[in-house]
Amino acid sequence: MGIKKIIVTGAQPTGGFHLGNYLGAVKNWCLLQEDFECFFFIPNLHAITCLSYSPKELRRNTIQMLAQFMACGLDPQKSHMFIQSSIRGHTELAWILSCLTPVGQLFRMTQFKAKSEQKDFVGGGLLYYPILMAADILLYNAHLVPVGEDQKQHVELARDLAIKFNQTYAETFDVPEPYILKAGARVYSLQEPTKKMSKSDPNRKGTIFIFEPIDDIRKKIRSAVTDSGTGITFSKNKPGIANLMDILAALTGLTVEAIEAEYGTYSYSAFKNCVAEAVIEHVKPLQERYLKLLKNKEYLDSVLEESKKVVQTHASRTMSKVYRKVGLF
Ligand code: TYM
Repeated sequence: MGIKKIIVTGAQPTGGFHLGNYLGAVKNWCLLQEDFECFFFIPNLHAITCLSYSPKELRRNTIQMLAQFMACGLDPQKSHMFIQSSIRGHTELAWILSCLTPVGQLFRMTQFKAKSEQKDFVGGGLLYYPILMAADILLYNAHLVPVGEDQKQHVELARDLAIKFNQTYAETFDVPEPYILKAGARVYSLQEPTKKMSKSDPNRKGTIFIFEPIDDIRKKIRSAVTDSGTGITFSKNKPGIANLMDILAALTGLTVEAIEAEYGTYSYSAFKNCVAEAVIEHVKPLQERYLKLLKNKEYLDSVLEESKKVVQTHASRTMSKVYRKVGLF
């Protein structure tokens, strides 16, 4: 048996999983556990780039996120699951990589531009965020990084930095590839279907959280914004319907063509009902598992403890190589 390829990815512990995180990321991660050595982590250092967060809530959300990972099907027997800040190496490697990164490239990052426009205070952390993400990836020598489309540019920076480090010092890092599945790669807001679904959307009706009450999920999908036309067809001119079709495709594995064939003649409201019921049927068992896991704090702690030992060994091995090559002690 050959050595398994390495997968690294994570989801921020802010506000819980929404349907975009689930369909664009976690649902696919579950399948990868069988064939790859997977490092799934909670990037809590990434969650402190704004001043307005509550430290108490961050700690609580971090543990809840672990329970959400596991409720969605990530299995600690198959994969490493850990909290970013509890492993030494992420921030050290980020510093070293930052010395190789042109700041112009950071200022041009789409997510930095969008986020810095929304904020009164733009800290250095927000600008350096993609370097920390590159460090997360390179620390474990990832081959593949499964993400939604919004994170592709960040993975490209990680590739650039791996190449630059190898050229500047010595061959050290594998060059990681983004791994983006088509279905669910970009789930849009239900209220503004040309904008990606996001935790920080001030219009809460646009975002479906996987662990929110079932009735709220149903209401949000039933009141999704659509155009005034008819017919369930996939078209750029009908972004609301196209988004719902994409959601159904990612949930069921059907192609959009098969959905057009099956639901083509449905009214918009009948189709929304079908999508709502498909989402609910899918998330119900996840919600049940989540509640059970939350009650078992000791088990969650033990998962973190076990995984930390192995993960720290990987990280320390990379860091001692890197320090030597860079000329540090
Ligand atoms: P985060 O926490 O915003 O999102 C977690 C995952 O969900 C995907 N995603 C979406 N997919 C489809 N449609 C959407 N509307 C949508 N919104 C989010 C994201 O692409 C991501 O895969 N910076 C990362 C976390 C991170 C990371 C890493 C990821 C930190 N270090 C290293 C991979 C490798 C982030 O904020 O993801």
